[in-house]
Amino acid sequence: MEVIISPSLLSADFINLQKDIDMINRSEADWLHLDIMDGMFVPNISFGFPVISAVAKACKKTLDAHFMIEHPEHYIAQTAKLGVEIMCVHYEACIHLHRTIQEIHAAGMKAGVALNPSTPVSVLEDILDDLDLVLIMSVNPGFGGQKFIPNALKKVAQLRQEIDKRNLSTIIEVDGGVQGENAQALVDAGADALVSGSYIFNSPNPEETIRSLKQVKR
Ligand code: DX5
Ligand code: ZN
Repeated sequence: MEVIISPSLLSADFINLQKDIDMINRSEADWLHLDIMDGMFVPNISFGFPVISAVAKACKKTLDAHFMIEHPEHYIAQTAKLGVEIMCVHYEACIHLHRTIQEIHAAGMKAGVALNPSTPVSVLEDILDDLDLVLIMSVNPGFGGQKFIPNALKKVAQLRQEIDKRNLSTIIEVDGGVQGENAQALVDAGADALVSGSYIFNSPNPEETIRSLKQVKR
């Protein structure tokens, strides 16, 4: 099976999004990763629904939305309406996580939970069976272009073991500082999907960089 590559729009050229989305559409990328920030859950603000709506119309790839916001449950219906396929919320932002996951499913989307670098995978014990995806953060959320935190490899391996033990098909996605040098190690540890922002968009040929990440063997 091939690794899933999800370029992060956060590192795209915001003055010329059409050009970068055309590139994503042409490329071997599987998904497009959308980083939504509120300046509360994370110390940065990115973009919101007007931008997502425009991007959704132009993008042919699966939309993988990563909500780094407080109260993501307030935005489930609005997200589904735009055609987003995967809605990922942070464990640390959701008091009633089980309810939120159920609501995401009821709205017709796949449900994911993201874990900050300091949150152990063991907190998913009682919710893992309900998840389509787990997003392991390999940087502290809020900014693109940060350095990969190697402890994420251990978390991916632990989660892989638990998912296999339970015979689940939950996707393990990794986000933050992913690049050519750590991609194979992440997949070897058990990752199914890799998010990559600055490594792709700051490279001389982003389409080729996506192709090179797709070469990683699973
Ligand atoms: C960070 C975001 C990431 C970010 C990744 O808060 O969740 O998706 O765009 O960017 P890179 O790949 O540059 O670390
Ligand atoms: Zn992200």
